[in-house]
Amino acid sequence: MSKILVTGGTGYIGSHTIVELINAGHEPVIIDNLSNSEISVLEGIRQITGHSPGFYQEDAGSREAVEKIIAAHPDITAIIHFAAFKAVGESVQKPLSYYRNNLDSTINLLECMLAAGIPNFVFSSSCTVYGQPDELPVSESAPIKQAESPYGNTKQMCEDILRNVAAATALKAISLRYFNPVGAHESALIGELPRGVPNNLMPFITQTAIGKREKLTVFGDDYDTPDGSGIRDYIHVVDLAKAHVKACERLIAGQNKASIEFFNLGTGSGYSVLEVIKAFEKVNGVKLNYTIGPRRAGDIEKVYADTSFSNSELGWKANLGLEEMVASAWKWEQRLADKK
Ligand code: WQD
Repeated sequence: MSKILVTGGTGYIGSHTIVELINAGHEPVIIDNLSNSEISVLEGIRQITGHSPGFYQEDAGSREAVEKIIAAHPDITAIIHFAAFKAVGESVQKPLSYYRNNLDSTINLLECMLAAGIPNFVFSSSCTVYGQPDELPVSESAPIKQAESPYGNTKQMCEDILRNVAAATALKAISLRYFNPVGAHESALIGELPRGVPNNLMPFITQTAIGKREKLTVFGDDYDTPDGSGIRDYIHVVDLAKAHVKACERLIAGQNKASIEFFNLGTGSGYSVLEVIKAFEKVNGVKLNYTIGPRRAGDIEKVYADTSFSNSELGWKANLGLEEMVASAWKWEQRLADKK
């Protein structure tokens, strides 16, 4: 059993990770300012696990708050850092708020943990660091491309910060590069809670299916892919969450082979937008209202992960497929509608 501080623990990926940490016998403590999540998520976690993790409504960028929490829990052995702004389009409009929030929190946590003698840090990174890769599937050693957005740049910059700090201090870091996380816990007690109009494909699909949105627009059908729509490596959020447990355990057990390691978190399979739509319709027995529109600015054509390093070295593999992703996403959207 390890006590693990989780920033952004009431968010989408954070909440699913809290559940998997508890299932694995660990004791997570959450710090979240609720800027993009709801306090009710804690009740979902309690219903699934029978446990109520420690919760602090504070900002991960606050020195005072993080010092206070670490002082109150001297047995914390690792930090998982999810808390960040994540909307690509918004980051183009508000670059300074993205740089301030995403960099400040990371730097603050590193300073606080190193001062307290906590060496282990797991970071939420993104496949966006690869841009449009030259070779597919893309492996962790692929070159990092000029970021398309301030959001993407904060992920690259944080990886650079971690690299530099790991070279100079006792820090041991794992940066997890997520492909496209989708789906929800099978209980439908926790899931994604997008505020306003969703930017991402899966919540837009489920909101269209439930009648919250009139129609889904497929952003481009003229890409160089079999059906012309963009290809991504969608990964079930529960599989993703389990990788964080593995990463923490690896660091705490001292099994890491370098002071900083990078792992791709995807299934290794790419699906097009039209394939996701068809799977959603077939598995759930619902018709989706969609049209083909122009490409979205900044989108890449296709990306999917080489997962061999994560499989062999982290000892982790995605188990859930597209069917489970679309089924759980739909179950969650229906549950949200029932609650209203
Ligand atoms: C997936 C596919 C769209 C909406 C972004 C960030 C990445 C990560 C995840 C997170 C693309 C198409 C989408 C719609 C569509 N960041 N699409 N109609 O762009 O791969 O990745 O989110 O926090 O860093 O860049 O994900 O879900 O937006 O799009 O046709 O209404 O669905 O063009 O091919 P993306 P997405």
